[in-house]
Amino acid sequence: MRYYIATDHAGYALKEFTKAYVEELGHEIIDLGPDSADRVDYPDFAKKCAEAVLADKGSHGILICGTGIGISMAANKVAGIRAALCHDAFTAQATRAHNDANILCFGERVVGKGVVESMLDAFCGTEFEGGRHAGRVQKIENCSFGADLG
Ligand code: RB5
Repeated sequence: MRYYIATDHAGYALKEFTKAYVEELGHEIIDLGPDSADRVDYPDFAKKCAEAVLADKGSHGILICGTGIGISMAANKVAGIRAALCHDAFTAQATRAHNDANILCFGERVVGKGVVESMLDAFCGTEFEGGRHAGRVQKIENCSFGADLG
């Protein structure tokens, strides 16, 4: 699996740690920045990662900001992206299995390195279950293209 990762300044300190762990799990990871801890705007990096994931079919993304909130909100504005803000292994596993999330988001000011590892184990190691969840995910997709939720 190929992963794309991006952060803002408040998620930058966890980026190298996260990249190394994803590689340890046997995956490829492509760094979309930023290249320093200088202040940046998280929507710019959410957009970069979202577009990379959509352009590379089957790939997934990882986004980190201070809380994980702003960067996940921004990524979810891109049609076709299902960015999940997770806080633990359970939410990271469930969002792959039930929501077919294609971007994992978390907050550097919220979770420690041990939790990050357990979320990556769960997110990278879980397939979408399909079945009853497939129609629900399709409704999310219909909505993001301007249809209603019906
Ligand atoms: C940056 O200070 C902070 O607002 C940002 O990283 C994030 O937490 C926003 O949701």
